[in-house]
Amino acid sequence: MKNIVLIGFMGVGKGSVAREMVKRTSMMALDTDDIIESVENRSVKEIFASEGEEYFRALERKTARWLKKNVDGTVISTGGGFFKVPALRKIGTIILLNAPFDVIYNRILAHPDAQKKLRKRPLFQDVEKAKALYNERLEQYLKVADIVVDVSDKDVGMIAKEIIKKVKKR
Ligand code: S3P
Repeated sequence: MKNIVLIGFMGVGKGSVAREMVKRTSMMALDTDDIIESVENRSVKEIFASEGEEYFRALERKTARWLKKNVDGTVISTGGGFFKVPALRKIGTIILLNAPFDVIYNRILAHPDAQKKLRKRPLFQDVEKAKALYNERLEQYLKVADIVVDVSDKDVGMIAKEIIKKVKKR
């Protein structure tokens, strides 16, 4: 079975949606940041701080090549910049989870662990910079996606249902 690849901006809920998909289908889930943290034995934050962003992006490209060759039947949640890997479309069906920047940001702030969630994301240290990154990426996200799901005002159950329905229709 083809993989489902969840792309979208930081904090949009890719990991939670992947876990919900596991509950509703026979699929399993993997997360590209988790794979990278596991093979590096350190956090994304530490990798950015010690090695810089380009080192992290190279690990994303390596992860993409490995996923393409070795994984199927899996919902793959990705880091917000993973969509730029050249192998992306060969990994599976690309689903963009999207919402306006302010909706995403307010949802992070409403979380009990909001500060922790922001601290662990090197590219979300400054709200204006994060908003500019969102604006820069939005068109690119839309261009690469096979299916777009607007996640504003929807819970994970509704989002998972919508993905399953849209993937079946293709
Ligand atoms: C990044 C998003 C992060 C993580 C890294 C870079 C990005 O993942 O991969 O901090 O470039 O948008 P999340 O989307 O899970 O926060």
